[in-house]
Order: sequence, then C-alpha cells, then structure tokens
Amino acid sequence: MVHYGHSNQLRQAKAMGDYLVVGVHTDEEIAKHKGPPVFTQAERYKMIRATKWVDEIVEGAPYVTTLETLDKYNCDFCVHGDDITLTVDGKDTYDEVKRMGRYRECKRTQGVSTTDLVGRMLLLTKSHNSNVVSRLYSSHTDNFGKGPKGHSPWTGVSQFLQTSQKIIQFASGKEPQPEDTIIYVAGAFDLFHIGHVDFLETVHKQAEKPYVIVGLHFDQEVNRYKGKNYPIMNIHERTLSVLACRYVSEVVIGAPYTVGKDLLDHFKVDLVCHGKTEVFPDTDGTDPYTEPRKRGIFRVLDSSNNLTTDDIVQRIIENRLQFEARNQKKEAKEMAVIEALKHKEDSLKTEAALVNN
Ligand code: C5P
Repeated sequence: MVHYGHSNQLRQAKAMGDYLVVGVHTDEEIAKHKGPPVFTQAERYKMIRATKWVDEIVEGAPYVTTLETLDKYNCDFCVHGDDITLTVDGKDTYDEVKRMGRYRECKRTQGVSTTDLVGRMLLLTKSHNSNVVSRLYSSHTDNFGKGPKGHSPWTGVSQFLQTSQKIIQFASGKEPQPEDTIIYVAGAFDLFHIGHVDFLETVHKQAEKPYVIVGLHFDQEVNRYKGKNYPIMNIHERTLSVLACRYVSEVVIGAPYTVGKDLLDHFKVDLVCHGKTEVFPDTDGTDPYTEPRKRGIFRVLDSSNNLTTDDIVQRIIENRLQFEARNQKKEAKEMAVIEALKHKEDSLKTEAALVNN
C-alpha cells in the first residue's frame, strides 16, 4: 500500500539532500519477497509521483538496492526507515550499501503499516476511529489478531499519535495569493488512493493558479454516510494523507458536511468540485452542494478513474488468505531477526565482560 507512513519517509529523505529519487518495485518483485501488493505497480508509480517531496521515480527498481543501482541513478546515498527489510531468503536488503557507507536511516512512523491497515479492513475493527480512545490505553489486540506479546516492534504498531509538529511538517504553509483561484472539495478521502489522486489532479487543472482546499469530514460523519467500519483511516491519518499530495494547498480538519455560505465566504471560494461518485444527502435529506450550485460555482469532474475505497477493501477481502499469510510470514521473519540481534548483543556483552575481567 501507499500510505502516510511512506509519505513521512519521503519527506524525511528529501530533507537529507537536494533531489529525491524514489525506486518503486514491480508487482512481481513484491509478490516474490513479501506477498501480493494492494495497489498495482501502475497505481503505485502514479501515487508516489503525486507525493510532494518526490523529484523523480525509478519504475521497477530492483528489490535489493546495490551500489550499482545508486550509481546508475546518480544517487549519493539511499534512505530507509529504522526497521529492517529482508529478502525472501531472510537477508538484509541494504547490506551492501550499509557496508559501503551509502545508507542513511529515517524514523519509521509509529502507528501505521500496511499490515495494520489490512487488519483493519479484514477484521472490520472500529477502534482506529478517533472518537474511540480505548485503543490508546488497551493493547495491540487490533493488530491483525496479534496479542501484545510476541509482536514485532516494526509491524505490531499501536495507534498513530497526531501532533501539531507533524501537521506543520506536512503542510504547505502557503497562504492563498490574490491571483489564486480558490477551489474547494470535500469528502472522506479514506485510504487515500489513486482515485483520489486522479481526482485532485483534475481539480488542480481547473485553474492556472489553483489553491486547492480539501475539506475532510470527521470520522463520525463519514461513518454516518458510509456505514460499516468506515472510515478505515481516522481523521488524523486522512489529514496527513491528503496534505502529502502535491495538488493540495490546505486541509480543513473536520469540514461541515453541507458546503454552506459561511465556509464559501470565509475561504473566498471561487469553485467547488465533486467527482462522479454519489453525493450523499445531509442528515436532513438536503443536498450538501445546494449553496455552491445556487452561486453557479459547482462543477462535477470526471477524472476517468472510478476506483473507490470499497474497491480497495474488496481487493483485500478477495485475497484474504494471501494477505493473512503475508502478514504472518513477515512478522515471523522479523521476530527471527530480532532474536538473532538480541543473541548477538548478548554474546558481545559476555565477551566484553570476559575482557574486562
Ligand atoms: O469518496 P470520497 O469522499 O473519498 O471522495 C472524495 C472526492 O473524490 C469526491 O469528490 C469524489 O467524487 C472524488 N473521487 C473521484 N474519483 C474516484 C474517487 C473519488 O473523483 N475514483
């Protein structure tokens, strides 16, 4: 999957240098080493390109990053999160570049992983929603049926904790300029996917100098019109996902469902857009776009991509067994590495003690 944990990694990586090249693996490579990917390679290439810290992408980059790969793309060093990635044979994929000093580490974002998201989708859990706080104080039992004991510290993560610092790091920080066209769109933007990216790209193309404001509905609101355990990502997670997109200038965190006078006047909105997806009525049965329609500033856009959040959940359910196997295998492999590292550490300590004595 492509999620805000990845965006946060790309943001940190970009800050370490001047030009960020992102190598993205093919579906075949991922299936071989990890199990089936959720998004296809074409979708992942496009999503990474739409991430605002990315300068260039290498399609079909080899799974193991070698010095040859780095040289080929003119890269001084490569960056990876502070967990470990293993090949199908259990080897560290960054072994060579680490030994040659061409490796740097960034911090993994706690509280999100593909494993965790897949678990939320398969188990239909609801505790990721921000209005349910119990998860913070309980255990990790939502993490794909794993108990708090014996889970890997890299994948068995707890809830993501939003901070003002993180929002600042992700935000553009730019105020709209007088010549900008202020475009407003609203929605759930749950499990931020290529359908959203294509839509936002189309929105961005509506003006020469667009300033795109995305209104995000609170979790309870999304659950009202989407039902089940939606949204899969809570408001904090959706905020970062949308802010990471290069077509977005600003996010309203918890936007009113009906796009009314106050909001339009406050942001001096010139245009309101919605995709081809269904517009659910407000609680009183009214159309949330009544006011923008009346003002003649409402536009329905066809981004020619009809992928929805439901489709992604469907993909996961269809491949349920494969994803479950993938998650269990990944966890087991990581636990084995941790054990090995612990063992190594213990032996070093024993050796040191012997030398000192
Ligand atoms: O469904 P959600 O609320 O996340 O959609 C947010 C916006 O993205 C809506 O305007 C919707 O019509 C648009 N969208 C789109 N194409 C998709 C998915 C969403 O235009 N494939």
